[in-house]
Amino acid sequence: EKGGYDTFMEKEIHEQPKAVEDTLLGRTDAEGRLTLDELRIDREELKNTSKIIVLACGTAAYAGTVAKYAIEHWCRIPVEVELAHEFRYRDPIIDESTLIVSISQSGETMDTLMAVRYAKEQGARTLSICNTNGSTIPRESDAVLYLHAGPEIAVASTKAFLAMITAAYLLGLYLGQLRGQLFTGQIKDILADLHKIPGKIQEILDDADTIKQLAAEMKDTPSVLFLGRHIGYPVAMEGALKLKELAYIHAEGFAAGELKHGPIALIEEGQPVFVVVPSPHGRDSLHAKVVSNIQEVRARGAKTISVAERGDDAVENFSESVFHVPGTQPLLMPLLTTVPLQIFACALASEKGYDVDQPRNLAKSVTVE
Ligand code: M6R
Repeated sequence: EKGGYDTFMEKEIHEQPKAVEDTLLGRTDAEGRLTLDELRIDREELKNTSKIIVLACGTAAYAGTVAKYAIEHWCRIPVEVELAHEFRYRDPIIDESTLIVSISQSGETMDTLMAVRYAKEQGARTLSICNTNGSTIPRESDAVLYLHAGPEIAVASTKAFLAMITAAYLLGLYLGQLRGQLFTGQIKDILADLHKIPGKIQEILDDADTIKQLAAEMKDTPSVLFLGRHIGYPVAMEGALKLKELAYIHAEGFAAGELKHGPIALIEEGQPVFVVVPSPHGRDSLHAKVVSNIQEVRARGAKTISVAERGDDAVENFSESVFHVPGTQPLLMPLLTTVPLQIFACALASEKGYDVDQPRNLAKSVTVE
């Protein structure tokens, strides 16, 4: 049942091209327009959304942060991302024009469910992005966008994360289409690039040996830091979470710009630092800023490992190792840059002899608050 892999996690990492493909499947009409008919919320109501609040926990919340960057850019709707367990204790401002988007693989996470219930009581519309058909959160929500990523057995989320991001992009494009913020041509271009992602993930998977080799070399490292900016920031957070969960190594993710406000004090000789490098073709100066962050930590002795777009020669000179991923639109990069970090965490945990499918102290779905 592990499909020839040693663990469910490896199997699920390798299923990611299909997971993304299946999430995209059947959501466009013959003209290439998005048809999210399954959303049972009135189109006018959706169109008049004044604010989106994403509620989720753990990996799903990082998918929510990716969603924020994309949806705000495409739809010009403000998006807040809140850990579900913090949400209802802060007296949040919600009304009928607020759209709550919960993200959950299991659909049973109690913290997320309670936050959704609270928002409903306050009059908000609720939309669930979920992988598990018929689970509680989608059943209690006004609308649901299922991932169709297939069952995820390993406790640490991998393919559901990429599928959540994909579904969030679809939602963003759909809202942009409804609100007239995006032209049909733009949506088509983005969808065409999304459809190329599975093949690009496959290229990363086919090239996993260098990542696994590095994981073997780093087996005894006590701490790893992850840096990212913009849409690379939640990817850095996810890379750190995977390493904590699977390899029990102290790992922290930071927004790269935050370095000089404190975390740079942690850097000493030999400290491994992963850097999620933005596309050199993206927003002006973002790439240059991250390259200078790499130089800052290197000057203090860090061992830098970059995840960068293929052809990005600038990082070669400043990194001990570089994992190249194929390029795509800057906002879609998390679907690619996450993959080497998952492979790394999984391989390192296996090197240490740990059970990657059932890490200690964790449950697949957390059904207590
Ligand atoms: O089932 P959910 O997506 O609601 O679960 C949320 C988190 O508990 C989950 O993502 C957790 O962080 C995973 N162990 C991550 O690998």
